[in-house]
Amino acid sequence: MKICHVVGARPNYMKVAPVSRALQLCSDSQQVLVHTGQHYDFNMSEVFFQQLGIAAPDINLKVGSGSHAQQTADIMVRFERVLSTEKPDLVLVYGDVNSTVAAALVCAKAGVKLGHVEAGLRSFDRRMPEELNRVVTDQLADLLFTPSVDGNLNLGREGITSEKVFFVGNVMIDTLIRMLPIISEYTFPHLPKRYALVTLHRPSNVDDVNWLKDMIEMLTGVTKDIAVIFPVHPRTRQRISALNLPLSSALHLLDPLPYLEFLALERCATVVITDSGGIQEETTFLGVPCLTVRDNTERPVTIQIGTNELVGRDLGQIAAALEKVLQGSRKPFAVPPL
Ligand code: UD1
Repeated sequence: MKICHVVGARPNYMKVAPVSRALQLCSDSQQVLVHTGQHYDFNMSEVFFQQLGIAAPDINLKVGSGSHAQQTADIMVRFERVLSTEKPDLVLVYGDVNSTVAAALVCAKAGVKLGHVEAGLRSFDRRMPEELNRVVTDQLADLLFTPSVDGNLNLGREGITSEKVFFVGNVMIDTLIRMLPIISEYTFPHLPKRYALVTLHRPSNVDDVNWLKDMIEMLTGVTKDIAVIFPVHPRTRQRISALNLPLSSALHLLDPLPYLEFLALERCATVVITDSGGIQEETTFLGVPCLTVRDNTERPVTIQIGTNELVGRDLGQIAAALEKVLQGSRKPFAVPPL
């Protein structure tokens, strides 16, 4: 059986790694790895392949950045050619990025069997591009692999028959577990023992100039109580530069970090402040308090069971939640099944 994996953006790589490793054990499977080129910076892509031990992509579509329509359309046009030459029996897409939905649309129209890894997650907020990508991809997929049982319930509500849906657990956490012995050896002697680790890249946070300015000022204020380490996503870096704000050196703005370095920092953080999806799950697994700067999450299990707390786009709520964590207050938490 010939299986084609399609990845394109940073959060896809740690998900394809364990699936591809598992399939290598099946003697009758042949695999092709397609990178769409949605992310192309060394720190957003290649370094992850190196650290995760994934072979270089067989095919790179090199689409690069663009508007949503342009990026999605470019991937579709280029991936359609790959399908017709490679003729896979099954295409696997991952997560909720533009590369995911673009490849899904091409497969559905070409009649090629499609599997979606990380199916069923819903924020119920259609202003998020990722939510549109999830809903469309799940409608088109023939096989849907969910990371948590809420995914199965969401898919059932959308009329997707349960025969197509498999609760397989969280493959990104499988990668984290594989890497734990390595990251446990990492030390950061130049960093203080207690620090807040920050990541922000969602359009809802960084494309609103006034809100981004408020957040940067708030984080600068936080440095009075605790060091703030902020690896900055390229789109956030562009927005911060455009603000022309005087930036305090107490706010440690770093380039995007490689996977292992970031995980190691996450594991030892006093608190994580983020708008990422995957980081909500990683912090829950690692038992690190996480404050999510969003009004909703497609990963409710991290709130119901895990260490995550939604603080919304509300400076007062963020400050109050942060103060509680810094005073040592922890909500009870457990790791969700699988
Ligand atoms: C994408 C995903 C988002 C995911 C995030 C992880 C979609 C709709 N969004 O958002 O779900 O959480 O990846 O990072 O697919 N850029 C670079 N170098 C790169 C990649 C991007 O400089 O290697 C810059 C470009 O200016 C680009 C911008 O970042 O326009 C945004 O990149 P894009 O892939 O469009 O979306 P992300 O914000 O990364």
